[in-house]
Amino acid sequence: MGDITIEQMSVNLTNYFARAGIQVELLRCYFSPQAGNFEFKIISAVSLSAFNRVIKEMRVFAGYNYEPLEGGTFRLSRNCDRQFISCGDCAHAIKKAIAEDKDGEQAARQKGYISFGKGNFDFIVTNMDEAAHLLIAGSTGSGKSCLLNSLIMELLCFSTASLILIDPKQGAEFGLYEQDIHKRIYKVAKDNSEALEWLSIAVDEMERRYGEMQAKGLKKYDGNRIVVVIDELADLMMTSKNEVEEYIVRIAQKGRAAGIHLIVATQDPRASVVTGLIKYNLPTKVCLTTANARHSMNVIDCGKGAELLGKGDSYIKLPNSTTLFRCQCANISDREILNCITGKYDK
Ligand SMILES: Nc1ncnc2c1ncn2[C@@H]1O[C@H](COP(=O)(O)OP(=O)(O)O)[C@@H](O)[C@H]1O
Ligand SMILES: [Mg+2]
Repeated sequence: MGDITIEQMSVNLTNYFARAGIQVELLRCYFSPQAGNFEFKIISAVSLSAFNRVIKEMRVFAGYNYEPLEGGTFRLSRNCDRQFISCGDCAHAIKKAIAEDKDGEQAARQKGYISFGKGNFDFIVTNMDEAAHLLIAGSTGSGKSCLLNSLIMELLCFSTASLILIDPKQGAEFGLYEQDIHKRIYKVAKDNSEALEWLSIAVDEMERRYGEMQAKGLKKYDGNRIVVVIDELADLMMTSKNEVEEYIVRIAQKGRAAGIHLIVATQDPRASVVTGLIKYNLPTKVCLTTANARHSMNVIDCGKGAELLGKGDSYIKLPNSTTLFRCQCANISDREILNCITGKYDK
């Protein structure tokens, strides 16, 4: 934000309110990856119309966004030079989470820790056991591929999970992963018939695991997880809607205990692609910039996804939570991916 510090800016804002006869107290100011943020408390009686006038001036003349918070407090935020996040930054956050997992390192690696990127204050870290199944939506250029690749790399580097990658665009997205020398990627399915075949293999494996769990008297499968990553759900739904929906819903409903998980992405989260059943059964949502408010609504139940800034700017909704977390997702290059899966390049 230029040469002026965030503290100076907050003094300027406080003075601006004071000149309009409104006494506010600064609670805190901080940079999030996308914006400078200022949280204030109103400490004098003010008329609503006077307050609204000042807020409007700040929006129109200085680009400040206003957001009411609890108990007479509010936040002003203004876009700043974006802080881009690399997959390496996420790696640090994941390593820390694994080290702090009270079940020990081996169990933590089996849980499949992932990080989407950086939230307002810290990295957003979860694991496949908690997040279970993910829905990722965002229009072209929103950063879907970068996020999918980051998640795949995180799973390859920090978990014991194996992956099935479904890429209906003839391998345009995941073709790279066929060079994996570690044999952790079972298959890169490159067309609709391979996609259906491998979804059905995943469902069969899930049933087999249930059989094994029953025989051993286990409630939860104790082997390695399998994560099925689908790059473009719309392509699959166009040709084989009923079959695809059935596979996805079956895995989503029963997969968690058997260690079978889904990461499903689409650039086209229309209601005919992300059906009610699919939306309901994929409890973790990542909404990148959407083409319109309706698409955003169909993913995170509000239109805010359409106002995001692209390139990894996102809202995250975790299971059993109604809170949306603003997040700057991680970026990763093809070179970094090849580096890891082939071990050929620089370490
Ligand atoms: N998290 C990110 N950080 C920085 N730049 C990003 C990020 N995600 C995407 N980008 C930029 O945006 C471009 C498009 O991203 P991509 O992941 O290919 O979008 P999509 O798959 O949604 O069309 C990338 O080439 C990259 O330059
Ligand atoms: Mg893409």
